[in-house]
Amino acid sequence: MSRNEQKAAVAHAAIRYVEDDAWIGVGTGSTADLFIDELAKIKGRIRGAVASSVRTAERLKAHGIVVEELNNLVERDLPVYVDGADEVTEHGAMIKGGGGALTREKIVAAVARRFVCIGDASKLVPVLGKFPLPVEVIPVARSYVARQLVLLGGQPAWRMGHTTEHGNWILDVSGLTILDPVALEAKIRALAGVVTVGLFAQRGADVILLGGDAGVRTLTPGR
Ligand code: A5P
Repeated sequence: MSRNEQKAAVAHAAIRYVEDDAWIGVGTGSTADLFIDELAKIKGRIRGAVASSVRTAERLKAHGIVVEELNNLVERDLPVYVDGADEVTEHGAMIKGGGGALTREKIVAAVARRFVCIGDASKLVPVLGKFPLPVEVIPVARSYVARQLVLLGGQPAWRMGHTTEHGNWILDVSGLTILDPVALEAKIRALAGVVTVGLFAQRGADVILLGGDAGVRTLTPGR
């Protein structure tokens, strides 16, 4: 199966985690896009969706799916959040934010009772860090945070020409071998000027659906 076929297969498989008559959290990226296309086929079963980016909101709306802001929901949490990842371990820790939507992704993930991660087989890694770790920073903090990231062993590169939906900048940190993602997430998050780090380890995936030649594989680190 090609990478795109694998993404389509996991997007389809994720539909069985969608709860009827409820809001669903929807992530951002090429795999999430395919999930939105699948969601459109069952849109009559759900109340609507909470999007993790403007791009996702627009795609949902284009399919006629109701999109609601998190702040407007009466419910305190969402049953399910479905999103892709740039890297994921079998323990459910992820690097996300390759598409720059990490902050809203982290907020929607935080209110979800279940995080379903979908990706092609290449996303599964033994150790996080080969994919450069995105860190969203307030613009005036860029140099300071970059120096601190060097002290943590990384090589930060400013994602030039990219401003996030929240008016911030992104540093992509390469050269990290992330053996303790929970600890590194806490350390980076604690730096002054950091808005969000693209490590999703403290709140990782509960279910991972991975594509492959033999079909969709399901890992359940959240059990
Ligand atoms: C968006 O900011 C990211 O977190 C995406 O979820 C991640 O980059 C996965 O994207 P693809 O599904 O396009 O690989």
